[in-house]
Amino acid sequence: MDMTLPRRRFDTLIIGAGGAGLNAALQLADSGLRVAVVSKVFPTRSHTVAAQGGVNAALANVLPDSWHWHMYDTVKGSDFLGDQDAIEFMCREAIPTVYELEHAGVPFSRLDNGKIYQRAFGGQNQDFGGPQAARTCAAADRTGHAVLHALYQQNIRAKTHFFDEYFAIDLLRDEEGVALGALVLEIESGDTLVIEAKTTLIATGGCGQVFRTTSNARINTGDGMAMALRAGIPLQDMEFFQFHPTGIAGKGKLITEAVRGEGGYLINGNGERFMERYAPTARDLASRDLVARAIVTEINEGRGCGINKDYVLLRVDHLGEEIIAKRLPGIRESARIFAGLDPALEPIPVFPTAHYSMGGIPTDRFGRVVVPAGEGAEEVVPGLYAAGECACASVHGANRLGGNSLLDILVFGRAAGKDIIDYIKENPHHRPLSEPSLERAVAHLDRWDHQPEKKPAGKGKAKPAAESSVRELREEFRKVMEDHAGVFRTPKSMAEGVKQLKAIRRKLRGLRLKDQSRVFNIARIEALELENMVDVGMAIAVSALGRKESRGAHSREDFPVRDDRQWMKHSLYFREKDRLEYKPVRSKPLTVKGFPPAERVY
Ligand code: FUM
Repeated sequence: MDMTLPRRRFDTLIIGAGGAGLNAALQLADSGLRVAVVSKVFPTRSHTVAAQGGVNAALANVLPDSWHWHMYDTVKGSDFLGDQDAIEFMCREAIPTVYELEHAGVPFSRLDNGKIYQRAFGGQNQDFGGPQAARTCAAADRTGHAVLHALYQQNIRAKTHFFDEYFAIDLLRDEEGVALGALVLEIESGDTLVIEAKTTLIATGGCGQVFRTTSNARINTGDGMAMALRAGIPLQDMEFFQFHPTGIAGKGKLITEAVRGEGGYLINGNGERFMERYAPTARDLASRDLVARAIVTEINEGRGCGINKDYVLLRVDHLGEEIIAKRLPGIRESARIFAGLDPALEPIPVFPTAHYSMGGIPTDRFGRVVVPAGEGAEEVVPGLYAAGECACASVHGANRLGGNSLLDILVFGRAAGKDIIDYIKENPHHRPLSEPSLERAVAHLDRWDHQPEKKPAGKGKAKPAAESSVRELREEFRKVMEDHAGVFRTPKSMAEGVKQLKAIRRKLRGLRLKDQSRVFNIARIEALELENMVDVGMAIAVSALGRKESRGAHSREDFPVRDDRQWMKHSLYFREKDRLEYKPVRSKPLTVKGFPPAERVY
């Protein structure tokens, strides 16, 4: 093993260039620190660019609002599983965060009086569950695009150092477990590089690609989550995966909730506005878990649309050309490309699509990674931070509200950046890397080095070279996840899912790359991504099987109701032996009275 690898040193390393990574980088670079951002795609192609509807902040530009109402809605939306200290922090910070973005150059849509435009989104109300709120600050239906480009430009100004199209292999640590950077691979050349840093922030985004039908980009393979698992860090609340109600049927491409916020609505095969039966007050603007279940129920009970009755319709045509052109231009384009229709003239066929992981790497509200330390205690992993969808702060609990995702990445990216500045003041020197940590990372990569095909083993033994390719196994894996960890879950199906995932994990171990010299690095990245996805998929499946209640996005046929007495706790999945632990929900410290669990109706 050649350990004389090239090395670069920075004050801090950020893995991932979406909203969380770039907002953290900006705080750090502006404070004069040397910041490296590693991204497996060109930064403005990170998945934040796909966020459509907007970012929540109680600015009260359209209707009266308060951060405390926003906090209540988020706690209720989380089905009371979110940590209320982190939720309070996020909802308070939302307001300065949006103004900071405005000053950074984000071209928000405007009201006639020049203030930032805010629209209605699901699960959001005035006055602790009163009338519908208008809290989601939007740049038409391309808010993430506007945010990401502004943050990237600001980072260029601040002289953040970008490693574009570099893939992070594994975290590096010292003998005491302090995080000290990562081993990375330049995708084009296949060259490896050790990036040493005083702190490391994982901001790699979500893992929606583990499901076959998803709104997520091809890059969302849970790389940071899997890296944490390999470092012995558990993943929290992975059973809670959000299915966005309105993906384009059969394609998964997102049709933003803003469509319903602007007055669009769902109908079934009988032409009924069925949401009236499931959420009499909020109707189409109920929380996402509820709307997704309503759609699947309508279809399961034979009231779907189309020849196979396997989707429902989203009507927008009544909104008129002007609103569609001004507020929803992106979804018109998406509907034309992916559904072959103009939503100004005909309704869009939709079905829930895998969208967002509420779970992730456990952190506190400063973005510091926290792990169990025995007897109910927790400790911070020194030098290691996580923010954005790969992290679990936990502000979304069992179900996230629309518009709180951009908010989460921005608030906690910023908070992590600020905490890193303080950490580096107290820990100003580079520490020596542990060689075993580097050896493990190199071995992980070498596992997918080009190897000549071996001859089949002796008589009676299984062939060492698996017949399936990485791509075939990937599709098999994603189908297992879709079939066994979807909107509605049964114990039998979940157990079967775990069994099949174990078989896929075994197949993956037996797989190696054939001679593909011309596409070699791409093949290697795909193999590494598949390893990451299978680890994260297993975390979802095992955690789902473990939680014996229904809460938020986790809906079990055998335990159909929420059970606060036994299950008001977070799950922690450890890769080693697929082990689960649980820890209490945090409700303190708060500056206001918290919200006790209550029935959740919309
Ligand atoms: O529907 C949407 O625009 C998605 C927003 C979100 O996931 O926060």
